[in-house]
Amino acid sequence: MSNARNAHVEKWVNEVAEKTQPDQIEWCDGSEEERERLTQLAVDQGILTPLNQEKRPGCYIHRSDPKDVARVEHLTFICSREEKDAGPTNNWMAPKAAYDKLGKLFAGSMKGRTMYVVPYAMGPLGSPMTKIGVEITDSVYVVLNMRIMTRMGSDALEMLGDSDDFNRGLHSTLDLDPEKRFICHFPEDNTIWSCGSGYGGNVLLGKKCLALRIGSFLGKTEGWFAEHMLILGVESPEGEKTYVAAAFPSACGKTNFAMMIPPDEFKGWKITTVGDDIAWMRVGDDGRLWAINPENGYFGVAPGTSNKSNPNALKSVAKNTLFTNVATTPDGDVWWEGMDGDVPEELTDWKGNPWKKGSEEKAAHPNSRFTAPMANNPVLDSAANEPAGVPISAIIFGGRRSTTVPLVLESFNWAHGVYLGATMGSETTAAATGKVGIVRRDPMAMLPFCGYNMGDYFSHWLNMQKNIGRPPRIFQVNWFRQDADGKFIWPGFGENMRVLKWIIDRSAGTVGARETPLGWVPDEGQIDIQGLDLSAEAMKDLTDVDPAAWKAEFELQEELFQKVAGSMPEALKLQRELFLSRL
Ligand code: GTP
Ligand code: SPV
Ligand code: MN
Repeated sequence: MSNARNAHVEKWVNEVAEKTQPDQIEWCDGSEEERERLTQLAVDQGILTPLNQEKRPGCYIHRSDPKDVARVEHLTFICSREEKDAGPTNNWMAPKAAYDKLGKLFAGSMKGRTMYVVPYAMGPLGSPMTKIGVEITDSVYVVLNMRIMTRMGSDALEMLGDSDDFNRGLHSTLDLDPEKRFICHFPEDNTIWSCGSGYGGNVLLGKKCLALRIGSFLGKTEGWFAEHMLILGVESPEGEKTYVAAAFPSACGKTNFAMMIPPDEFKGWKITTVGDDIAWMRVGDDGRLWAINPENGYFGVAPGTSNKSNPNALKSVAKNTLFTNVATTPDGDVWWEGMDGDVPEELTDWKGNPWKKGSEEKAAHPNSRFTAPMANNPVLDSAANEPAGVPISAIIFGGRRSTTVPLVLESFNWAHGVYLGATMGSETTAAATGKVGIVRRDPMAMLPFCGYNMGDYFSHWLNMQKNIGRPPRIFQVNWFRQDADGKFIWPGFGENMRVLKWIIDRSAGTVGARETPLGWVPDEGQIDIQGLDLSAEAMKDLTDVDPAAWKAEFELQEELFQKVAGSMPEALKLQRELFLSRL
């Protein structure tokens, strides 16, 4: 193609081609012509199926291998030179062992296939926070997804110039045998090798692999944050704008929160999206924390997305969207559990089999996803492409907890906020393979994504305080408390605006709070529940901190302190003691 070639990229591409032996090499430029041609190719090969083009122009569905439907944490490795640098929460492989092992799998792996060279930028073009990556892949599905999820093509290569400072990502689908599936990160080499999968976070290497695992390592080294956080803007009726960043684990509500529509009681309030999954944050000259969204699209959970829960997400997937593992209707539209309206009588399920209403199997896979361009979002924030990013006034940590954890809480100070984030627990979801619904510690929602020693990561969070002249306040939320019948007590979704309002007011210093051993919680009446089917009594329970339950939770947190014992910062051990004495 017509790209001005970078000699370092070219040299590496040649090396990889020698190893993988593709039939042809295609340099991707990100053009519309290229998108059309590769889409047609994917359709011809049965990788994509066109949806009803009248109902969903530019939309296609991909059905993945049924054994390849989510991230695989047990096959994800941090290959730092020293094992201690991967730390106690990551799988580790020595770099040489990993290069050898995967090198054998990559040898000749692209015979009979096309090797695509995909240059991409994570972050707005021209931003000092943006990083360049190049992904080499033999999957046309990956190319088309990367084209939506990142700023992909010639522009990225142009931004790289003659520099050698880019992430080298290599992906080969192989034959999708789970025995040959490995996702390996080499932080010191700024390199990622992924093989044997064709799914999401395993293969779209800009996302979890570069923007979080390698990104967190770079952030530690260079003095910034790479976090599993959405970024949203809140505009008050008076036109005052506040930005917050929020870390919730996978499938725990980031996309929904980032696009929510405030309830009728909040007339004049507006939420806008900067990002729905990842935030890169640096300290600005003004001492505030400034954030960019490194991505350019949304790889969002389909099930549960409806006009009631997230109308803006539905509008975002109206056109030019790729769907993976959803169900389809007889007239060629998409369907998933939790969609508006009646359940159709007949569908084609995510595996491509006929499906009838009332079937015990789910029609869409619980981790089925849409890949939608950010530009489709009707509430995209005006600063979403701003190279400087947006200033963050509040940081929120949230998990999925059916018990114990209150609806909202503010930390006493930065170190205490780091403690709250670090000790967060959450119930597992379908976003990764394995059992769902198990409570595990998921520090800052980064357990599967921190590319180095978790204890050092906590130290980084604590150390950054001295660099941040005007630090955001730190909060914790939980939308997922259940009643005795297993029903969510808090209505969630757009109604989360009521909680966000308290967070904004606390950040501005305009509202009081009640002190508990765990932190500051809203006092009675401070969260507006007008118009909700929720009693004042239930609201009191939701914002309560039960000392007995928290003593049990305190014991559960011990597991984390044991696991990270070797590198746990003293400041967090002190926070733990202080918490116990307050309890
Ligand atoms: P990843 O893309 O995996 O990182 O997920 P995410 O954190 O962006 O989660 P998302 O917003 O896609 O929501 C995941 C699931 O949680 C969906 O099934 C939602 O319907 C559900 N969910 C989101 N917000 C709420 C809420 O406020 N209350 C309840 N009860 N469910 C919610
Ligand atoms: C997540 O699991 O947090 C995701 C989906 O955002 S994936 O890209 O598969 O990691
Ligand atoms: Mn995510």
